Amino acid sequence: MASGELIVVGTGIGLAGNMTASTESIIIQAEKLLYVVADVATAAHLEQLNSTAESIYSLYDESLDRIDTYYKMTECILDHVRAGLKTCAAFYGHPGIFVFPAHEAVLKARTEGYRAEMKAAVSAEDCLFADLGIDPGRVGCQSFEATDFLVYDRIFDPNSLLVLWQVGVIGQIGFRRQFPIGQNIEVLKEALRAHYPADHYVIVYEASVLPVCDPVIRPFRLDKLDPSALSPISTLVVPPLSSRRGPNIDMVRRLDIPERYILKRAEDPSLYDPAKPGALVNWPATV
Ligand SMILES: C[S@@+](CC[C@H](N)C(=O)[O-])C[C@H]1O[C@@H](n2cnc3c(N)ncnc32)[C@H](O)[C@@H]1O
Repeated sequence: MASGELIVVGTGIGLAGNMTASTESIIIQAEKLLYVVADVATAAHLEQLNSTAESIYSLYDESLDRIDTYYKMTECILDHVRAGLKTCAAFYGHPGIFVFPAHEAVLKARTEGYRAEMKAAVSAEDCLFADLGIDPGRVGCQSFEATDFLVYDRIFDPNSLLVLWQVGVIGQIGFRRQFPIGQNIEVLKEALRAHYPADHYVIVYEASVLPVCDPVIRPFRLDKLDPSALSPISTLVVPPLSSRRGPNIDMVRRLDIPERYILKRAEDPSLYDPAKPGALVNWPATV
């Protein structure tokens, strides 16, 4: 095996607070640290942990499609591995969630005969489950990148939770220092209206990036979803329709699940209502 190696890590959401101890130790021990993070405080923390730290955010170029920038980032990471260095590439959140160059760099390094691995980290969706009191085990969870959701006409179940990422930058394939935010939100509303009533409520969610701040949790009626409420870090949460389908009794029998268990679950005394995530139980359903 060639001498360089690559470990891709995530810094979690917000300041270093939810970075794991093992990630921090990988960052400290790296012979070269490359990073892309969303805030200056995390960048400063990384620079403090490792004196070789270098941001590759500067590779974003307004004249390029984002995909071309991602290939440039991949090559930059690989150049350090090829030079024989124990290289760490750090991205904010989970490095494997919506981070094209992270996956590409691991695959490319392995293809070229280097040891390469990715470590898990706290993503925006992990924060969302905690802040909104949503348990994906209760009704399932479908997660899509918003532009991908529209372009590929993704098939989903409106009786289950829907999470749409990058909702503030729908249709934007390039990079802008100042992204026009909220464009194409009417197109998304129209697509969602084919499955949900106009008064179905949706939530604009932003996990807190500073320990002193609360998360942004803004419920809207679907037809009143306001593009000015969105930012580049907004994620849209669409709770399931409240008229849940009943169980498939044939399947229950086939799986040999006692019917009394299903009946007991239907009468569940739990306060949890999947159509009203926990944090919002006392909030008005419309804004
Ligand atoms: C390129 S992706 C990066 C995701 C990141 N790797 C993660 O693990 O969460 C950017 C998108 O992640 C979501 N996101 C990033 N930061 C967020 C935050 N603080 N709160 C909610 N969603 C966030 C938004 O949907 C945003 O458009």
